[in-house]
Amino acid sequence: MSIIKEIKPLLQASLKELYGYEAAETELTINSTKPEFEGDYTIVLFSFVKQLKKSPEQLGQELGTHLVQQHPALFTAFNVIKGFLNLSVADSYWTRFLNNHYQQTGFGSLPPIGKKVMVEYASPNTNKPLHLGHLRNIFLGWSTAAILKHSGHEVYKTCISNDRGIHICKSMVTWQLYGNGSTPESTGTKGDHFVGDYYVKFGIIQKEQMAELIEKGMDKKEAEAAAPIMKAAQQMLVDWEAGKPEVIDLWKKMNSWVYSGFDITYNRIGADFDKTYYESDTYLLGKKAVQDGLAKKVFTQKEDGSVWIDLTADGLDEKVVQRKDGTAVYITQDIGLAAQKQEEFGCEQSIYVVADEQNYHFKVLKLICEKLGIPGAAGIYHLSYGMVELPDGRMKTREGTVVDADDMVEEMVNVAKAKTEELGKVKDFTAEELKELYDTIALGALKFFLLRVDPKKRMIFNPEESIDFHGFTGPFVQYTHARIKSVLRKASEAGFKYDALSTATDSLLKLERDLIILLEQYPAVLEQAVSEHNPSVIAIYVFNLAKSFNTFYTEHSVMNAETEEKKSLRLRMASMTANVIASGMGLLGIRVPERM
Ligand code: ARG
Repeated sequence: MSIIKEIKPLLQASLKELYGYEAAETELTINSTKPEFEGDYTIVLFSFVKQLKKSPEQLGQELGTHLVQQHPALFTAFNVIKGFLNLSVADSYWTRFLNNHYQQTGFGSLPPIGKKVMVEYASPNTNKPLHLGHLRNIFLGWSTAAILKHSGHEVYKTCISNDRGIHICKSMVTWQLYGNGSTPESTGTKGDHFVGDYYVKFGIIQKEQMAELIEKGMDKKEAEAAAPIMKAAQQMLVDWEAGKPEVIDLWKKMNSWVYSGFDITYNRIGADFDKTYYESDTYLLGKKAVQDGLAKKVFTQKEDGSVWIDLTADGLDEKVVQRKDGTAVYITQDIGLAAQKQEEFGCEQSIYVVADEQNYHFKVLKLICEKLGIPGAAGIYHLSYGMVELPDGRMKTREGTVVDADDMVEEMVNVAKAKTEELGKVKDFTAEELKELYDTIALGALKFFLLRVDPKKRMIFNPEESIDFHGFTGPFVQYTHARIKSVLRKASEAGFKYDALSTATDSLLKLERDLIILLEQYPAVLEQAVSEHNPSVIAIYVFNLAKSFNTFYTEHSVMNAETEEKKSLRLRMASMTANVIASGMGLLGIRVPERM
């Protein structure tokens, strides 16, 4: 149990004993003491001042005296500043905490709490490769799921593959016209890139055709639709919906190329799913939902046959859920999907990791699902994230294409290699070990940098900065971990058994205390990450922990500590720090090396 949770009932007991006052848990505010004041934890007194009709100063003095008297093993001193009661915690409390937990690799994890949660993430369209935005999505989704699992939730990771529609028809039609039967194998191209190239080519050809039409007097919008290649794509979509065998075959073939490409990327970056849904299935479920909504009078049909929902009373607008030609719209397939997910998994909470351009979409989705009475609708949660830009403020490379995920990973591996060689600490590594290390650092840098920012905020990804071994980066934390491991190796090589020796030393130096206090906060940080759906709090925490260890280690020696007890204590601190770093980084999907 965290120390704050331990202090709360003691505070309640004191309030009761001194004043006969029964304070509710929600009335208690206890924080870490600000560094400029003496003490470790601070009780905020304002909420009781009125009820108890006492001055903050008097209340603080009385409470402080009582707490220190009643719990001398926990509190050693107090002071009152304005409405704040600052309490100093006994060193023996911290050493005891350390002794109890330093070997525990699962420190901060919770036993099953019987709550099912679904996390949908990645969910790309199948007409082009993954880009930088998808990386933020995937890392966020994966990490959110890992954090929930660590906190005792039963988690299901899913993905919706948006595999049908005009976008994939564009790639299909262009390949049919210009592909000459080539394949990813025949050209040595990764499948998703191969298909994406035809999607890009579609755009180029459409523009050329539009230019001709505009020259003949058409306006831009007309020309866009009238371009022969666009018409061919539209026809293909109609044929697809009609189930025309050649079109279905072509569609299956091209999607399979895309999937083989996605799988390589997913594997490389550590994305995995318990189940993948396909829009080609769920859009039909949506049609069922439309019938259902009409029957329940949640939807209304207009004269032209289109189906709508009126959300003006909810402060939103009127929204079409089925076009007049009977075709499904995006929201409709999502209604069907939500119902399907619920039927199959029955989760209390259903998280969708999707970019903030779709904030409105998910607001509407949740509202419609609630109106339709779809079970679990109240648990729909859009984990919205902001756009990722490059340092020069663009999302696109000079060639005008979005930043490709595979290229980004490759670039990071190259930088990792250069930086590691510069450091020159792993000259004895085999080629295989080196390869693994470069991957660990490259992905560590990428993941950490994308996850250290509050998801809702837009961000700039700076590849160079993300891999700085001295910065607010994954590699800095990884390096600290490797450094600690090297200290621990030295101890064991010297035959020093720090787990056998007592750490009777009850007086801690400031930097020792600081580090142990930080270690103690890990479970509380995890709790915050869960309740806010925000892995960045873990990234910030592990960074601060690594920094705190380095500050300590610059000032104090471990292996040449003043006494054997101190040496033992510090090795335990080091060992626990390494464990917590490994755990926190693990929840971000980042490996930590033993050496680097
Ligand atoms: N494929 C969509 C896109 O790339 C995202 C899908 C999000 N998930 C959902 N259930 N709507 O924008």
